[in-house]
Amino acid sequence: EDAEKGEYRHYMQKEIFEQPAAIQRTLEDRIDSPQSVSAAFGERAAAVFDQVRTVQIVACGTSYHAGMVARYWLEALAGIPCQVEVASEFRYRQHVVPEGTLFVTISQSGETADTLAALRDTDSSNYVGRLAICNVDGSSLVRESELAFLTKAGPEIGVASTKAFTTQLAALLMLVMALGRRKGLDDEKVESILNELRQLPNLIEQASALDKPIEQLSRAFVEKHHTLFLGRGVQFPVAMEGALKLKEISYIHAEAYPAGELKHGPLALVDKDMPVVAVAPNDELLEKLKSNLQEVRARGGELYLFADKNARVKEGEGIHVLNLPAVPEIIAPIVYTVPLQLLSYHVAVLRGTDVDQPRNLAKSVTVE
Ligand code: G6P
Repeated sequence: EDAEKGEYRHYMQKEIFEQPAAIQRTLEDRIDSPQSVSAAFGERAAAVFDQVRTVQIVACGTSYHAGMVARYWLEALAGIPCQVEVASEFRYRQHVVPEGTLFVTISQSGETADTLAALRDTDSSNYVGRLAICNVDGSSLVRESELAFLTKAGPEIGVASTKAFTTQLAALLMLVMALGRRKGLDDEKVESILNELRQLPNLIEQASALDKPIEQLSRAFVEKHHTLFLGRGVQFPVAMEGALKLKEISYIHAEAYPAGELKHGPLALVDKDMPVVAVAPNDELLEKLKSNLQEVRARGGELYLFADKNARVKEGEGIHVLNLPAVPEIIAPIVYTVPLQLLSYHVAVLRGTDVDQPRNLAKSVTVE
């Protein structure tokens, strides 16, 4: 049944709306208690995790963006240094492996040539272990790694990844907790993060309910040639993923910037023809983000904001706001991903592109 479109017009659309169920499946029986979190990474995970002092994440495309989110979490919540790199760079670069490094690959398919080659090139003696976070059981990446966590997104048909990404993020947050407990992240904090994760399917459902207003808003993008996506902190990779989705399926050039970096270049591009999309959860960077957005308005840029309903971001001339429910801070990047997926989807549909099979792209890139 997963391979049927059913009531949906495109697989991508179906897969966006499947996210609450996909996340539910991925978390089911795995987040009962702080003590049980490691078990989802396999029997040998506990012994490997005990030795971890740093993490190296390697992935491509959307999976790389999941890794970038994980870096913020790992350093902030678990106090574990983390490097993230695209596989095609990592594999051809001399790199130093600090003692106690866990090598983590992230992949929907488990067959991406560069990610697999990066794994195969690792000298196992340099790492405490190699973990694959993957959506396909029995894939090359899973078979060739000592540890594996299977996301249970179900088959993903749309070339542009959606539910694989949000389930990867759920898996990565579990990894952060499993490692963090060994670094003094106390069980009370872990229990509170687990509670946030338990609310996730419901919050994603609420974010998906913005579908109609997002469809309305998408009309403003149809004739545009460029779009800028802004986020700060852990929302920067969410902005990158939003930009990637838009370019993949609508063929509109899109770029993501950490909002604080605006004045170091992209502000020169902002005018009324360059819409600016920003994600504004109610976090400690909100006030800074607001002042970055003023800079955009002052140059005549049209702003499209996805903002926490308590963030007090006001609609106004050139400022379009869509409110999201109040979301606990740690899981906010997962929830804020959804409206950006919907935005790209609707822009692409209006532009009449082949949403599920965008030109020049493949679902699984098995050759270099
Ligand atoms: C291709 C797909 C992307 C995907 C990337 C990595 O570019 O079109 O959607 O994110 O490969 O694929 P993986 O299967 O390794 O996650």
